[in-house]
Amino acid sequence: MLVNLADILAIAEQNNMAVAAFNSPSLESVRAAIDAAEQLGYPVIIDHAQGHESVVPLDVIGPVMVELAERSSATVCIHLDHCEDLSYLRRALEIGFSGAMFDGSMLPYEENVANSRRAAEMCAGFGCGLECELGSMGARESGAGHEEENEATAGLEAVHTDPDQAAEFVASTGLDALACSFGTVHGLYKGEPKLAFDVLEAIRARVDVPLVMHGGSGVGDDDYHRAINAGIRKINYYTYGAKYAGEAAFDRARALRETSEEAPVYWHDLTTAAYESLRSTYEQVMTVFANGAKPLA
Ligand code: 13P
Repeated sequence: MLVNLADILAIAEQNNMAVAAFNSPSLESVRAAIDAAEQLGYPVIIDHAQGHESVVPLDVIGPVMVELAERSSATVCIHLDHCEDLSYLRRALEIGFSGAMFDGSMLPYEENVANSRRAAEMCAGFGCGLECELGSMGARESGAGHEEENEATAGLEAVHTDPDQAAEFVASTGLDALACSFGTVHGLYKGEPKLAFDVLEAIRARVDVPLVMHGGSGVGDDDYHRAINAGIRKINYYTYGAKYAGEAAFDRARALRETSEEAPVYWHDLTTAAYESLRSTYEQVMTVFANGAKPLA
C-alpha cells in the first residue's frame, strides 16, 4: 500500500520507532526493501536520490517503485531524496511519489526558506509529504562513489542544525519532516561517528515535526536507539548496505570461478547475490530501527 510521508512518520511517532528509508537505485534494492517490509510487518520508505539519476533515471525506476508499493501488502512511502531542483520534484510528483525531500541546505537561509515553501505548495497539490533540510551534512548522495565529495559539495563543511533557526524554518516552510545535521555524514565513516545528542534534543524541544537522520548507515545500534528516543523518526540508510551487497556479488563471482577457470559467471548470479545481501541487511536494520515496537501488520 502506497502511503504519504506524513502518514508513515505518524506511525513511527505513535510507536517511538524510526522508519528505514533505503536508497534504491536498482530493481534488486527496491524488491529487497519491499520484501523485507512484508516479511517483518514494519513500514518502509524507498528513496530515489536525484544524485542517482546517472545510475538509474527517475523516469525508469520511479514508476516501478510506485507500482510495487501499490501492489504490496506492506506500508510503503515512495520518496524523492536530496532533490535540489523544483522541476525534478515536479517529475517525481507526476509519477506518483508520496514523499519528497527538497534540499536547499546549500542555499543561503532565505533562499532555502523560499524554495522549500514552493516545494511545499507543489507537494500539497499532489498529496505528497515534504521533508526539508537545515544545516549541512557535507557531501551529498551522487552516483557511483557517492560518498566522495562531488563538484557541488567539494569543500562543503558539515554544519550542525541551529535549533532556534529550525523552529523558524519549520514555521515558515510548511514542511512535514525536518532533516537535521547533528554529527552523521553521508558515505563511509572515517572513524567512529560522534553524534551531538544535545543538538538533537534542543531541536526536538523547539519543533513538533518528525526529525530525520541522514548518513544513517555505519552508525552503532546504541546511537540509533538514543537518536530514536530523542525524536528521530526516519533514518536514511544506503552506503554500508550497498557495500555489503557489492561484496556479496564479488564473493559469488569468485566462488563460481573457483570451481573452474572457465566457469561462466552470469549476471543473474550477481544480482541474486546482491538481492539476498540487501534483503538480509534491510531485515536487520528495520528490526533495530523498530526500537522494540511490535510488527504493525
Ligand atoms: P548513507 O549513504 O551514509 O547511509 O546515507 C544515506 C542518506 O542519508 C541518503 O539521503
